[in-house]
Amino acid sequence: MATSKLSICLLFEMIFLAFVFNLANGHGLKNGFYKKTCPNAEAIVKKTIHEVISVAPSLAGPLLRMHFHDCFVRGCDGSVLLDSPTRQAEKDAIPNLTLRGFQIIDKVKAALEKECPGVVSCADTLAIIARDVTYEVMGPFWEVETGRRDGKVSIANEALINLPPPFANISALKTTFALKGLSVKDLVVLSGGHTIGISHCSSFNTRLYNFTGKGDTDPTLDPNYIKRLKLKCKPADQNSIVEMDPGSFKTFDQHYYTLVAKRRGLFQSDAALLDDSETKAYVKAHANSHGSTFFKDFGVSMINMGRIGVLTGKDGEVRKVCTKVNH
Ligand code: HEM
Repeated sequence: MATSKLSICLLFEMIFLAFVFNLANGHGLKNGFYKKTCPNAEAIVKKTIHEVISVAPSLAGPLLRMHFHDCFVRGCDGSVLLDSPTRQAEKDAIPNLTLRGFQIIDKVKAALEKECPGVVSCADTLAIIARDVTYEVMGPFWEVETGRRDGKVSIANEALINLPPPFANISALKTTFALKGLSVKDLVVLSGGHTIGISHCSSFNTRLYNFTGKGDTDPTLDPNYIKRLKLKCKPADQNSIVEMDPGSFKTFDQHYYTLVAKRRGLFQSDAALLDDSETKAYVKAHANSHGSTFFKDFGVSMINMGRIGVLTGKDGEVRKVCTKVNH
């Protein structure tokens, strides 16, 4: 009885928080914010990203992931890009050590600065890049709202606290997303980002070798898939990499849901989508369907994610160089 009262209270608290965050989220953003001040901004990003992804398609994954890691920590304010001389910035935190492609952000930003100095924020640059890399690898296109400004603070520990770990269960995932004003649908849709990219063995090795500390495997992972994964990842292997959606890891498609439905999602957080009725229904519906709503849904959820805790108006600044605050 007491437990059910507690969960009802928690549920209301989550709904309330989601409501409050939704009111605050995205305030001051709009489509075409740079229409007058830097009319070519989006074309510049598009061109540079097209050049980069045509020669290095494997950078699409980390660049999409980077926007997620930016938005979940202090809002989408470019704080993930800041350098710290003492290695205490977000990018120095464990979940961010596997981020790649910072040099691409710098390249795009330099092109933007050349055309319109001090106008386009790093946070917006990241949001547009996330859309453009997705589109470059055959994914959906959506209008990116712009007008974000850059934060001046970046703290490693905040990344550790705010980014969901790969071993998160469904209730932890739902809470983390609700705290950012994102819905359960956003959770299952955005997890579909795992249709592209790679993972290091270290992110899921316990599922293969030592799930409960007794040298066992994760019973929710397909045993045949475990055999295949073990060929790539040896017990203490931290560095080898595997494709998250084998066979089409460079193509944005809905095959992620087919994998999850077959109990072949790589992380516990992927498998956890089968532990909630709403997320499970979405996974099942998208595992086989051809006339899928996934592409449209992904664009909508990316817009929702891009609204988290943004700085607008006179808050923050527009950094000249994304790795350091202006002086
Ligand atoms: C729901 C909670 C999530 C968890 C627990 C999670 C966790 C992870 C982990 C552990 C990796 C592998 C890192 C490595 O070992 O190199 C990864 C990769 C990736 N994640 Fe997520 N993620 C989540 C949500 C998202 C979201 C919302 C997006 C974007 C919409 C996303 C996009 C990606 C991409 C594209 C990669 C591949 C990166 C690469 O190729 O280097 N993830 N994620």
